Amino acid sequence: MSPSALPSRIRLRAVLALLGVLALITGCSKSPDAAGGAPAQPHAIKIGFYVKQPEEPWFQLEWKFADQAAQALGFTLIKTGGNDGEKLLAAIDNFTANGAQGFIVCTPDTRLGPAIVAKAKAANLKLIAVDDQFLGADGQPMKNVHYLGISAGKIGEEVGKTLAAEMKKRGWTAADTAVCAVTYDELATAKARTDGAIAALVAAGFPPERAFKAPVRTTDIPGALDATNVLLIQQPNVKHWLVCGSNDNLVLGAVRALEGRGFAPESCVAVGINGTDCIIELEKSKPTSFYGSMLLQPKQHGYKTAEMMYKWIKDGVEPPLDTRTTGILITRENFRQVLKEQGVRE
Ligand code: GLA
Repeated sequence: MSPSALPSRIRLRAVLALLGVLALITGCSKSPDAAGGAPAQPHAIKIGFYVKQPEEPWFQLEWKFADQAAQALGFTLIKTGGNDGEKLLAAIDNFTANGAQGFIVCTPDTRLGPAIVAKAKAANLKLIAVDDQFLGADGQPMKNVHYLGISAGKIGEEVGKTLAAEMKKRGWTAADTAVCAVTYDELATAKARTDGAIAALVAAGFPPERAFKAPVRTTDIPGALDATNVLLIQQPNVKHWLVCGSNDNLVLGAVRALEGRGFAPESCVAVGINGTDCIIELEKSKPTSFYGSMLLQPKQHGYKTAEMMYKWIKDGVEPPLDTRTTGILITRENFRQVLKEQGVRE
């Protein structure tokens, strides 16, 4: 039977079905551009952003804010990280291979400063150090490398003042109380923070011989937990601990160690730094001894550094060599509001 011999109703159905199949095929092969969006143009400016501990909420926020700068200003951000110097040096090659003109870095090891600078120069990449300032071969800060970091000593002092005030408020005596400072003195910004906290406590009248250091091997919660456990075993007669540390995670590790050794939440006071890595802790319905944290400004560290790099590349506007940011205390009482005001949380 020839097609023309088919009843016209069936012929019409066959034609409609064929049209349907054709529409489906052309629909599937439509490129996203043809579907309505503007063609994705690669940006002329590309900026690398390397962080030493990508698992830390602090660094995730830095990246988030740098991403916002990339969106707003129109550049490509290449994010990579890891707590390994070799990885960083390889990442710089990768930035070059990807056509970046500059990068921002929180280095896993500040002593790599001269090597990072040499690599950046060789590849003609602009460079901004964020958070952790490079050290030269002489062990001194490399003040000729553009840097944005926190006013570490001052922020540490605020921690110490807060701990001293809480001790007073609770009526604890120096005989019953000791300071546990979870330290990482290998890193200048970390050392300045805990030194500042201890100095402020001493200035408030706390006996210096009752301030103990718990030095960490690794700068994470497990590292701080181990370091604090050692101290707690060495000092079994302390009733109340005042805890400080170079950042939230080190203080959280100490809080977990105190809990593990049977200290009630109200018998100790701990104050962190970052304010970004303790949000879950502050949200817990039952208070722990983590009293609060000095909230830093991840937006300045992420958005601002990226913007400075962008303007440097695009318009030749060199950023200041040294920019320092401040912190504000957040506690269970105010953290939701302050995090919102500071743009850290919606
Ligand atoms: C260091 C710390 C981070 C954070 C930044 C802030 O890099 O490791 O947790 O505190 O400083 O600059």
